[in-house]
Amino acid sequence: MRRLALLLLCALMPALPPAGAARAEDPPERLYGHLPYDEAPADALAAFCEGSSNLLRKEVAQVVKVMQEAARAEGVTLRAISCFRSVKTQDYLFYGIAKKRGQTPEERAKVSAPPGHSEHHTGYAIDFGDANRKTDLEQSFGKSPAGQWLLAHGTEYGFELSFPKDSTQGVSYEPWHWRYVGTPEARQTFRWARQLFPANPAVPD
Ligand code: DAL
Ligand code: ZN
Repeated sequence: MRRLALLLLCALMPALPPAGAARAEDPPERLYGHLPYDEAPADALAAFCEGSSNLLRKEVAQVVKVMQEAARAEGVTLRAISCFRSVKTQDYLFYGIAKKRGQTPEERAKVSAPPGHSEHHTGYAIDFGDANRKTDLEQSFGKSPAGQWLLAHGTEYGFELSFPKDSTQGVSYEPWHWRYVGTPEARQTFRWARQLFPANPAVPD
């Protein structure tokens, strides 16, 4: 009888995960060094930025408006040049451009995230630009008035630099690319990136 009860108990107990299986809190699998991100839901986005990638999370757009006014008061033009990107757009930017330039995926991954792995999918990341458009998406942006203004004030508004000079992720320095972590939802979205590859400057927790 006792044996039967023991057998019944064993049958009802939840099975343990096999050794080496992923746990909920393990970091997600990276592709060419980049972490996966979901696309923001369409109703969370509104047109705000320049160009074809002009959608941004509505609450982030409100923050960026305040930043642009504060920068303008100091004589600095802060442009939001590229914001939300779909997985489809990123597919072209990664594989399409790699093909045109004869780059391997590993080479391309130093400057671009593979589709499904860009912070831009979340609607929380922005590529900023200066009044001098020649510095757009160039490392010289870091020395431009807008680049300097962001380094001095970006974190005050909840923005941090995702790919700093000293990043261990292997992505090259992107002084223009800032992610917003000013809400609990945004911080949750970037929790793994923030643990594994801290931004610099970073927003304190
Ligand atoms: N340039 C960054 C890594 C991106 O493509 O998301
Ligand atoms: Zn970017």
